[in-house]
Amino acid sequence: MRILFASSEAHPLIKTGGLADVSGSLPAALAALGHDVRLILPAYPAVRRQGRWQPLNTPAIDGAPTGTKLLSGTLPGTRLRVYLVDAPPYFERAGDPYRAPDGRDWQDNHLRFGLFGRVIAALGLNQAGLRWRPDVVHCNDWQTGLVPALLQGHPERPATVFTIHNLAYQGLFPAETLQALDLPEALWRPEALEFYGQLSFIKGGLVFADRITTVSPTYAREIRTPRFGYGLDGLLEHRAAVLSGILNGIDDDIWNPHGDRHLPASCDPTEVAARRRCRAQLCATVGLDDAPDAPPLLGHIGRLVEQKGTDLILAALEPLLAQGRVRAVILGSGERRFEQALTAMAGRHPERLAVRVGYDETLAHHIEAGADAFLMPSRFEPCGLNQMYSLRYGTPPLAHRTGGLADTVVDASPDNLAAGIANGFLFDTPSVKAFEHGLGRLLELWGTPAWETLIRVGTQTDFSWTHSAQQYSNLYKSISYQGHA
Ligand code: ADP
Ligand code: GLC
Repeated sequence: MRILFASSEAHPLIKTGGLADVSGSLPAALAALGHDVRLILPAYPAVRRQGRWQPLNTPAIDGAPTGTKLLSGTLPGTRLRVYLVDAPPYFERAGDPYRAPDGRDWQDNHLRFGLFGRVIAALGLNQAGLRWRPDVVHCNDWQTGLVPALLQGHPERPATVFTIHNLAYQGLFPAETLQALDLPEALWRPEALEFYGQLSFIKGGLVFADRITTVSPTYAREIRTPRFGYGLDGLLEHRAAVLSGILNGIDDDIWNPHGDRHLPASCDPTEVAARRRCRAQLCATVGLDDAPDAPPLLGHIGRLVEQKGTDLILAALEPLLAQGRVRAVILGSGERRFEQALTAMAGRHPERLAVRVGYDETLAHHIEAGADAFLMPSRFEPCGLNQMYSLRYGTPPLAHRTGGLADTVVDASPDNLAAGIANGFLFDTPSVKAFEHGLGRLLELWGTPAWETLIRVGTQTDFSWTHSAQQYSNLYKSISYQGHA
């Protein structure tokens, strides 16, 4: 089948989070199943600098400014076809895909991603000069949410799939956006794009896509409840018949301890000596001592925001660091208050805590390989990738039992240990107390033979895309043969 995969980021071209990891690896896994998959992204400067891009003859596209063009190339290191939407006034800027260098959202994100949606819809209808008509347009997150709304009702439209990577980000803009984007008045209803007086991009996907997916089965259930639904639980409950959860896979070439290009040497995580070597390298990199009798080194990587439970990490680690019971390496960026609090904590415990504020891919790989255990106390987590990387790298995760964390981490309860299926630690409420209790259980098991069993189980689990790509493939087939205008 012909699949157009639309995303606002894709590794290695541009990345702010897990969406890029998925968009950089799922299309290739679908192509390996025999599909003709093409990826479409905005032409940010960072993307244009990588690889070679051919301008295509692009006709005028409905709703897009004159001069909007498509460029064609491939995803670096693969043969996957990539189209870039080249609209310099919108995308040729410093900063990341969504924010200016000062960290604030671009004020015209509605225009930027409105245009992106227009071009994707035109391509979906074979009106972008490509002479290629996809059977399915697969949209991801609010930045592509308008596409199913723009395509609905077209007699020759492709089938549409909308994947929710994070329901907390909805693309909400003032009511005037409807006119600014030249969208039909009929879309201004609570049953369409209106959301309590604002225009919601994500509702375009949730209301109009033929199928809705999210990135883990547990999150697919959670978002139908008020606690996780961000006001959209009613709509999702209403669409429950077409909503499903497909667990993300990981790129097991990039995240492979037996040949990780970011690490100086290959590492077998089931060998204590190899893990020690990785830990020593990590400690040397971040400036911590690594005596043989040092307490366990905990790792954390991520966006420093409420979702990820940074506040829980701050509260729970302080006493453990003060008592000398743990060491930690934390890499992340996000809200200033969290960046400052973590940096201040590192100032109080310089021999035990290293904090790196920023984005550092190589260090992320070193942490996965060198930490003794990994912390993921996320309040909610649609899927989460770092716990899967950690399992593969022999770094048992401690995680809140939610979303994809609940679907991938198997708690080291006595029963699960006895059954040989435990691979990490889960706690049930996102509170400091519950997290501390989880840390206590982790510290008790560390260094015992059961710890080696956890590692063995984690490293043996298959988190590759093989199974999940097949589920997407089945989903595409279930809609595209039915007529869906
Ligand atoms: P989310 O998409 O919600 O941020 P995920 O766990 O799905 O969370 O994916 C996050 C991805 O981004 C992982 O590949 C992780 O290693 C990476 N990442 C997050 N923050 C950083 C950082 N500061 N430096 C390097 N990589 C990071
Ligand atoms: C989102 C979610 C994360 C998920 C990622 C990729 O950013 O927060 O849980 O793993 O998307 O699907």
